[in-house]
Amino acid sequence: MKNKVLKKLKSAEGKYVSGEQLSEYLGVSRTYIWKCIKELREEGYVIESSPKVGYKLTFIPDIINSKEIMTERESKILGKNVIYFPQIDSTNNYAKKIAQEGCEEGTVVIADLQTSGRGRLGRKWSSKNKKGILMSVVLKPEISIEELQIITLAASVAVVETVKELIGIGLGVKWPNDIILDGRKVCGILTEASMEMDKINFVVLGIGLNVWHEKEDFPDELEEKATSLSIYMKQKSQLNDIIIRRSRLIIRILYKLEELYDKINKGDLGSITTLWKKYSVTLGREVLISVKGEQHSGIAIDITNEGKLVVECTDGSRKEVLSGEIYV
Ligand code: BTN
Repeated sequence: MKNKVLKKLKSAEGKYVSGEQLSEYLGVSRTYIWKCIKELREEGYVIESSPKVGYKLTFIPDIINSKEIMTERESKILGKNVIYFPQIDSTNNYAKKIAQEGCEEGTVVIADLQTSGRGRLGRKWSSKNKKGILMSVVLKPEISIEELQIITLAASVAVVETVKELIGIGLGVKWPNDIILDGRKVCGILTEASMEMDKINFVVLGIGLNVWHEKEDFPDELEEKATSLSIYMKQKSQLNDIIIRRSRLIIRILYKLEELYDKINKGDLGSITTLWKKYSVTLGREVLISVKGEQHSGIAIDITNEGKLVVECTDGSRKEVLSGEIYV
């Protein structure tokens, strides 16, 4: 019921809605409406009330929850089912568990805090409570194992385009899974797959985006390497002009991801790599790649439709790298 009250207030777009209208519309007493308003205020919503005119929603806090994303989602499959945790070990772990138990494709797991957030290559992903987007999406793509990397590239494009659209900040993509802002990492993607023989059972796509972090929220060793959307906006004195809501970012990321995912399932991997190249901060740069402990230096010249990085090495050879680490 509380959510219905909220929905009605939101649809009034900053105008007053009378208590009478709300109680008639929802078929409950005005006292009950008042109780819902009180609860919403406790959650951080600012709702003005005026004795004769009713209630007006003037501020929506940056809270994330399943209902908000499910009801306002713009995607068809991704986010139809959203599971929210105030705290969990890792959204990827939980998504893998429910995927193994057969959950629906497109199920999304989100959290405000992870106690054992994971990154690629066994690294940790740390994010302060309520400051970031920590989300995992269960996918069942119709691609081969060799093409798996395209999911990471599609997710990167979805994040970059969402941040541009909603906040106006241009991000860059660094192969294979980093998103860069002002030369620092603002988002990381961890794609994990369950495979059998040569078939993919499911993929868990994990996205960690730093939104509200301050410099001191990052571990010492990352202070110079990591950033957040709000750090950047503060530097540019834009933080008061633009409202950032994590739920809105999540909804749009899912929408854009679904568009790209449809293309992937239709076999159109080329349009994903074309978009990725547009945002790339890797291509054309001198890179030192480390693959299975071996180091190669050269220029990153392209990516293949499977998401492999093509490097023209200093010894004249050309290498296609599927995974590895880049030291630019
Ligand atoms: C990386 O940069 O190495 C990838 C980081 C991925 C972090 C996200 S946060 C949500 C999901 N759950 C995890 O434990 N990891 C991913």
